[in-house]
Amino acid sequence: MSEIRTGLGWDVHRLAPGRPLILGGVTVPCEFGLEGHSDADILAHALTDAVLGAAALGDIGMHFPDSDPRWKGCDSLVFLRHAKELAEALGYRIVNVDSTVILEQPKLKDYRQAIRERIAEALAVEPDRVSVKFKTAEKLGPVGEGRSAEAQAIVTLQKLGTGPWIDAA
Ligand code: C5P
Ligand code: MG
Repeated sequence: MSEIRTGLGWDVHRLAPGRPLILGGVTVPCEFGLEGHSDADILAHALTDAVLGAAALGDIGMHFPDSDPRWKGCDSLVFLRHAKELAEALGYRIVNVDSTVILEQPKLKDYRQAIRERIAEALAVEPDRVSVKFKTAEKLGPVGEGRSAEAQAIVTLQKLGTGPWIDAA
């Protein structure tokens, strides 16, 4: 029996002037960035929750509480790498990840390839297993008004040694 599991992640952070805008480990040049205890990388946080969710390992706050001074200003790819290692320890490998960053501006599409490569590196998979999409909120709500940014992610895991994709039996 083939074991395929999916996990969902979501995150939101406020925008703040003078903070770095870090998405999937890539710093996007911008006069504002994301507020948060760590480096506030919403995309890495959503992906981390998706990996943890697929393996039913709780959520990011359980593993990396924002009250812990160790995670202050931390590179959030550390969280993603750790989640992947926990899933691997249960025998899972990452099949693919898909994600969306919702931010009114700046335009992010020129950073897509760099972001995909950073995430792929953290997850130790090929970049073609990593999809990153961008959307505005069409000026609606807190994201559309330029007060926050959101990220959504979905991850598929496969338990090693449990192929094929569709059970022939
Ligand atoms: O939100 P909307 O559908 O208008 O976005 C159109 C396209 O603009 C997206 O598919 C994406 O390629 C790009 N985009 C971007 N950076 C953003 C938002 C959207 O590059 N912050
Ligand atoms: Mg977060």
